[in-house]
Amino acid sequence: MLRIGIIGIGAIGERLLNTFLQHEEVEIAGLCDQNQERLNTLKSQLPDVSLYTDYQELLKDDKITLIYLAVPPKYHHQIALDIISTGKHLLCEKPLANSLAEAEEMANAAKNAGIVHAINFPMVYSNVFHLYNEKIQNGSIGELKKVEVNFQFTEWPRHWQQNDWIAGREQGGFIREVAPHYIQMLQYILGDLHVTASFPDYPEDPAKCETGFISRLETANGIPVLFSGISGIGQKEHLSCKVYGEKGTIDLVNWSILSESKKDTNSEVLEVSREKEYDLVYELIKSTKGEISLLVDFDEGVKVQSVLEDLLHQ
Ligand SMILES: NC(=O)c1ccc[n+]([C@@H]2O[C@H](COP(=O)([O-])OP(=O)(O)OC[C@H]3O[C@@H](n4cnc5c(N)ncnc54)[C@H](O)[C@@H]3O)[C@@H](O)[C@H]2O)c1
Repeated sequence: MLRIGIIGIGAIGERLLNTFLQHEEVEIAGLCDQNQERLNTLKSQLPDVSLYTDYQELLKDDKITLIYLAVPPKYHHQIALDIISTGKHLLCEKPLANSLAEAEEMANAAKNAGIVHAINFPMVYSNVFHLYNEKIQNGSIGELKKVEVNFQFTEWPRHWQQNDWIAGREQGGFIREVAPHYIQMLQYILGDLHVTASFPDYPEDPAKCETGFISRLETANGIPVLFSGISGIGQKEHLSCKVYGEKGTIDLVNWSILSESKKDTNSEVLEVSREKEYDLVYELIKSTKGEISLLVDFDEGVKVQSVLEDLLHQ
């Protein structure tokens, strides 16, 4: 049985709490949120679980073996270092940290402590991602020529994701929020990316996040990767990651749709198996037992952070 404590029960914290609650090999041992109102709601749902407003109190529970950390990005670093110092395993939300230096310090501390360290990149556990990877790797679209990642948001923040940090420049914005998923996926498939130029558009108010960006990256063997994004447009949200090969193209649209085209055919939506093949929680359990597992560890998180910071600041 994996005994889990969660710090930060906001939008994503609640989503993973529900995932953990459905897992027969997991027990939720403690929940922490600094917002007492959140805790009051959780108290009525989970009367037997210990609730805390101070994460240091949660960390004193010796029976908890893994902490899932789901607070906003700028608080990851300090809380993660405190978790690591207790020797508990750590699943952290993306992006790993709010700067490259913080991310590196977290990765070094986690490795020195010998704990399981992982980041919640859910696409790694989706069948659509594995089919996408397979199609690119097995030569189905031929030699790769270019990758284009496009983010189009009707508005930012999205109407369902209103909170006090996500529209701010310090730790919010759609580059920080959404680009890490695509950097991680592309680095998994194509190897390390390097930013050669990036042009974020910022509004006059220095507290507000970007409204758009255009960036050029490269893989180690010189394949160009273009990222661009815009918010505040008359269109439904559309996210696309399209790989162009000499024989065909493959496009990952809105996280879940794969469409492939060939030289002489229109693009065709591919069927993706609905049978669940990968599961983050099982992978965490395997890893705590010392078994080989499919996790995105903090070293990969540092690589994602490095590209992310270059998109934001170059
Ligand atoms: N992996 C994904 O697909 C995914 C999706 C959405 C968000 N995220 C990431 O998850 C993290 C949280 O995002 P969110 O949208 O859930 O934010 P949120 O604002 O909805 O929730 C954050 C929660 O953390 C609590 N909190 C803040 N500081 C705390 C502290 N010191 N101690 C205890 N509780 C504290 C807040 O009260 C809030 O309830 C961010 O890093 C975000 O980038 C990841």
